[in-house]
Amino acid sequence: MFKKILVPVDGSEGSWRALEHAVVLGEKFESTIIVANVIQPYNNASLLAIPLDHARMEKGNSELEKIGDKVLEMAQERMANYPHKVEYSLEVGHPSERIIALAKQAEAEAIVLGSRGLSGIAEFFLGSVSSKVAQYASVPVLIVK
Ligand SMILES: Nc1ncnc2c1ncn2[C@@H]1O[C@H](COP(=O)(O)OP(=O)(O)O)[C@@H](O)[C@H]1O
Ligand SMILES: [Mg+2]
Repeated sequence: MFKKILVPVDGSEGSWRALEHAVVLGEKFESTIIVANVIQPYNNASLLAIPLDHARMEKGNSELEKIGDKVLEMAQERMANYPHKVEYSLEVGHPSERIIALAKQAEAEAIVLGSRGLSGIAEFFLGSVSSKVAQYASVPVLIVK
């Protein structure tokens, strides 16, 4: 059980707390930890969701991709002492959809994520990503407060 744990991180404090919990769990179960960041190359304000900067996105050197790589680098530093396997994945698309798809594709046996992320709206207990993942994932989800 918990041989593979998916930890989606967005660079927020909540996501780093989630990673710490995943490490404790992973040390117990000798888990592979997959750390994933999802970049969203769309203009959020646009109802048409027109991809921004699509050409550069595909060449792999967009500003967004640099931010995603930076988040994964920060994760790598935090995972330096983890004794089991760690994989890093930069995903492109809608965050909750990509997280759920990646969990399936990688056959993760659990997902550990923060209750809140970067948006900083403290009004609700859950963010949109954590609530959608909890709702639609088909494996156990640990939401770290
Ligand atoms: N783009 C993303 N890539 C990877 N993980 C994410 C992303 N966005 C959110 N998460 C994960 O979901 C958690 C909750 O974030 P979210 O639901 O977006 O809350 P908020 O609305 O406060 O930003 C984060 O702590 C992180 O673990
Ligand atoms: Mg968010």
